[in-house]
Amino acid sequence: MIDGNMIRHLWTHKTQDHPWLSDEELVIDRAEGVWVWTQTGKKLLDGFAGLAVVNVGHGRREIAEAIAEQTVKLAYYPTTRQFSNRPAAELAAKLASLTPGDLTYTMFAVSGSEANERSMQIARHYWLRKGRPNKHKVIALQGGYHGATAGTFAVCGLPHMVEPYAPLHVPGFAKVAPPHPFRDRGLGTDEEMVQRRAAELREAILREGPETVSAVILEPILSSGGIIVPPLGWLRAVRAICDELEVLMIADEVITGFGRTGRWFAVEHEGVVPDLMSVAKGITSGYVPLSASIARRHLADAFPDDSTQENVHPNTYAAHPVACAAGLANLRIMEQDHLVENAAAMGTRLLGGLRAAVGKRAIVGDVRGRGLLAAVELVEPDGSGRALNAKRVGVLDRKAWDRGAIVYARGSALRLAPPLSITADEIDQLVRVVAESIEELEQEIGR
Ligand SMILES: Cc1ncc(COP(=O)(O)O)c(C=O)c1O
Repeated sequence: MIDGNMIRHLWTHKTQDHPWLSDEELVIDRAEGVWVWTQTGKKLLDGFAGLAVVNVGHGRREIAEAIAEQTVKLAYYPTTRQFSNRPAAELAAKLASLTPGDLTYTMFAVSGSEANERSMQIARHYWLRKGRPNKHKVIALQGGYHGATAGTFAVCGLPHMVEPYAPLHVPGFAKVAPPHPFRDRGLGTDEEMVQRRAAELREAILREGPETVSAVILEPILSSGGIIVPPLGWLRAVRAICDELEVLMIADEVITGFGRTGRWFAVEHEGVVPDLMSVAKGITSGYVPLSASIARRHLADAFPDDSTQENVHPNTYAAHPVACAAGLANLRIMEQDHLVENAAAMGTRLLGGLRAAVGKRAIVGDVRGRGLLAAVELVEPDGSGRALNAKRVGVLDRKAWDRGAIVYARGSALRLAPPLSITADEIDQLVRVVAESIEELEQEIGR
């Protein structure tokens, strides 16, 4: 048993998200499939796949074996200085075949934050190469989240996360509102809302001066912002604006990539090919940290192949052989087990189940999602549509825990993102837990 005194050395533990439980009860000890066990023996359905990471499910021996084999063969060698290694090249080629359009050049990194740093850096170098040195601004969405580094905080649309660092870095760039059907649609149609928000994005770029704007960065679904699902048509509209104003489009697929939304990549729902795509999480299902920025051919073509001058600087662990071997084994499982198709089918079951079970409850304003990325939006029961107090929403974590599932209740939304390997029976169990938890909360509020 790990005791509380040891746990208190973890900095992250200063944030107590489950204050009703002792530190010892929150030690996750082992996991298999969609299930995790605490060190005290409690079994829970992992309704958020860790942090929307473990796409193939926990405990896949094939990935462990690939990791072990590669570690013994070659644990580390850099891909800087023109060196490369087999798993890195193989994975880059695999990504070129899986990603849409001509997204073919991969620059690996370690975390999702770094993938976005690399995407913004490649965009900047591209404009320098094109002889347009003023293009540097990166426009982002309100409610967007792209990582926890100083550079990604400059494009973060969640002000409370960025505020403490304001004196330390650049003030950041313009943020525009995403189309959020539940909050924004009003009496109009989804299409009108998309057009309105797209016009605002276009105006923002024009206000900044397109000659100063390098890129627009956006999540196809805003995850940290509350699983905001813009209607289909939004990404196409953004793509058109970027093309018109000569601005690059960066899709942050750190959460949505690798099957999460029922397609390999979320941009595929609209047939859109961004100029750069940032990926992480599902690329290895978290077995070893790995991320990447993937660029289209026309970006790569702007750089000569025979230059001795470095452009974007990679970090020490870029294209780590063990991480890339884990990625290859992970993608093999995704293909063999048809996990993208399963995510689409189970996502439909999850949304349908949630809508039927809680869609009409007084404290439920909206049930939304795409594939296995879903949210239940909680509202005050007075019909005003006002967001339910976040403390009240947070109680749902506890209610779900007591019933045997880990969910993520934060802000005004209960979020779900289970492993893509989840079965129909497990979906039904998750829906039941969420439904009972919400029902109990509604009764408590009514009292
Ligand atoms: C959309 C998105 N981008 C970037 C990140 C940052 O990734 P990481 O925490 O691996 O740096 C996250 C993390 O959750 C994310 O959800």
